[in-house]
Amino acid sequence: MTVETGGLVGQSKNNITTTVKHVNNRVRYGNKTEKKNRSYKKMRREVVFPRVPDVLQQLFVSCTQIFRGPGFVPPASDVNKLCDIIDKMKPEDVGLSKNLQFFKPTGSVNRTPRVTYTTIYQCDQFSLCIFFLPETAVIPLHNHPEMTVFSKLLLGKMHIKSYDWVEPKDSIPPSKLRLARLKANSVYTAPCNTSVLYPTTGGNIHQFTAVTPCAVLDVLGPPYSKEDDRDCSYYKDFPYSAFSSKSSR
Ligand SMILES: [Fe+2]
Repeated sequence: MTVETGGLVGQSKNNITTTVKHVNNRVRYGNKTEKKNRSYKKMRREVVFPRVPDVLQQLFVSCTQIFRGPGFVPPASDVNKLCDIIDKMKPEDVGLSKNLQFFKPTGSVNRTPRVTYTTIYQCDQFSLCIFFLPETAVIPLHNHPEMTVFSKLLLGKMHIKSYDWVEPKDSIPPSKLRLARLKANSVYTAPCNTSVLYPTTGGNIHQFTAVTPCAVLDVLGPPYSKEDDRDCSYYKDFPYSAFSSKSSR
């Protein structure tokens, strides 16, 4: 499995733009076009801003008001506010459609399905990203250190398994086995409601497996940051019984 940054998968000329800018407190798609001014023999650049869907703009503005950077967990009222907005979001609000070739069943399974993602917006307080998983692709078990994350499956069917740590990190030496409690282990089909994970609850460590081609919207507050020691770690899970039986011999 490979995770790559990059453009949107199944990109369509009319449905998806490749960059989004924050201009005058609005999220705007930036689509650069060039016009030749023959009389002056110069190249003149114009930036065209198609209208951003209201719900995406509402999400952006609410995120700027709610997230306050590292160490901050939004209160329940703000979590509910963001969930209400994200629950309403449709694939079209981020330039996607189930009719895109990427989301159509091909009948043949790619041997190394590649996970890609695109970032809609990122600042120190939060980021808005969309992950694209072809059929059978897996984002392996990974954590979200000190983050509150809102996830919404926009398209497709996905198996989600998630855990929370049972014991605090400080009590366990690094690179050792840690006990985790299963939080979720189910298949979800879009459209479904927003799920929320917190720094220590809600399934902070999770794995996505695409049953069909999927698109997932993630709102992360704060975003991953190597500089701030919030890098992503990957894990492998083992059944507790495998170790409890050995220790009882
Ligand atoms: Fe995640």
